[in-house]
Amino acid sequence: MSAPLRVLALHGPNLNLLGRRETAIYGTTDLATLETDLRALAADLGATLESRQSNHEGQLVDWIQEAEGAFDGLLLNAAAYTHTSIAIRDAIAAVRLPCVEVHLSNTQAREPFRHRSTLAPVCVGVVAGFGPSSYALGLRGLIDYCRAPERDSP
Ligand code: DQA
Repeated sequence: MSAPLRVLALHGPNLNLLGRRETAIYGTTDLATLETDLRALAADLGATLESRQSNHEGQLVDWIQEAEGAFDGLLLNAAAYTHTSIAIRDAIAAVRLPCVEVHLSNTQAREPFRHRSTLAPVCVGVVAGFGPSSYALGLRGLIDYCRAPERDSP
């Protein structure tokens, strides 16, 4: 049997407040619950999942850089940095690990400044609008992509 795929899930600023932050938009599931559910799904799909959160752009850049060689793919909710961070975009492009961008809310249905993602062009896919299910769908997509990248490449 092949070795389990190693996925690194990264959560950006303010996602540590999930469960009590703007619950009408982000729901009532807290980050710890989301991480536990995601780890269980990863195990079902034959993968391991490590999950980290930071409010700091440079920390996210460091973790993305360090992921090369240690992980097979990235599941990323960069939160507000999605819309602003050239540094995170460049880090994703630099490490050549497949990255799936996820969002709890449907960013396209919200304020205009959330419509643009600086990260999406260097990601293999984006899932948004399904609450915690965005992470589950993104994880499934990432694992499928890691197993057969040539089949899923546009
Ligand atoms: C978010 C959407 C972003 O626009 C916002 O800044 C967040 C959360 C989401 O998961 O819906 O913090 O990434």
